[in-house]
Amino acid sequence: MWKSWGLTGKKRRRDNAHSFPALECAPFAGLPLAMIHSATAFGANGLFAQQAVAARGSFPGINGFLGTRASIMLDLVALAMFVVLALLGLSIYLVHKRQQYAWHKRIQVSLGMLLLLTVAAFEIDMQWLTRWELRAAASPYFVHNYSPATTAVEKYRSTVGISLLVHLLFAVPSALLWVFVIVQALRHFPEPPRPSPYSRRHATWGWLAAIWMTGTALTGWVFYYLAFVAT
Ligand code: HEM
Repeated sequence: MWKSWGLTGKKRRRDNAHSFPALECAPFAGLPLAMIHSATAFGANGLFAQQAVAARGSFPGINGFLGTRASIMLDLVALAMFVVLALLGLSIYLVHKRQQYAWHKRIQVSLGMLLLLTVAAFEIDMQWLTRWELRAAASPYFVHNYSPATTAVEKYRSTVGISLLVHLLFAVPSALLWVFVIVQALRHFPEPPRPSPYSRRHATWGWLAAIWMTGTALTGWVFYYLAFVAT
C-alpha cells in the first residue's frame, strides 16, 4: 500500500529530500499538490492556517496544532505524555495509598495499549511522513545549514542530536520495561488482582518502569523544545 502512495522506504525519502515542500512524501501523494495546498490553507482554518503554515515553513508531513515547527504526530505525542504521566501518578497513588488494585490494573493495561498505539503512530509518522531534521533545521541547537548531505555524525553531535540520543536511552528501555511489567503482572497476580508473593518483585520493576517513563517524557519535551521551538 505504501508503494502505491509512492512511499518506498529510505531511498525514496533521500531522493525526495531536495524537493522541500515535498508533500509528495505524504500518503496523499497521488493528489495534485495545489489541491492539498488549498485544502490546508482555506479548509478548516482558513487564512489563519495559511499564514501559520507560511510562518513555520512548508515541510513534508502534516503540521502540528501547537504553533511550533513540529508535525501533528509530534504534537500529539508531546501532549499524550502529560496524560500518561498524570494517569501513571493516579494509578500508583490508588494502589499505594488506597489499595485499589483493580483500578491500578485497569489504568496500567489501558496505558500500555495507549503507549503501543502512540509508538506505532509515531513510528509511521517518523519513517514515512515527517523528516524531523527539516523541521529542526531552523533551531540554533541543530547543525548549521542542514542539508541531505549532512552526515549522521554531524547530526548527532549537535545539541538536538544529543538530546534525541538521551531521549532514546529512556524511550527504548521504557517500552521494553512496560511490556515486561504488564505481562509478568498479568501472569503472576490473581484475578481480581491483590497482593501476592510476586508483590515485591512487581513493586521493584513497577517503580523502575514508572521512573523510566517519567524520564522518557521529560527528555522528549527537552528534545521537542530544542528541535521545534527554539529559534
Ligand atoms: C507498566 C505497568 C505497571 C506499573 C508501572 C506498575 C507499577 C506498580 C508499582 C510502582 C507498585 C508499587 C506501589 C507501592 O509502592 O506500594 C505496584 C503495585 C501493584 N501492582 Fe502494579 N504496575 C503495573 C501493572 C500492573 C498490572 C497489569 C497489575 C495486575 C495484573 C498490577 C497489579 C499490582 C498490584 C496487585 C500491586 C500491589 C502489590 C502490593 O502492594 O502487594 N500492576 N504497581
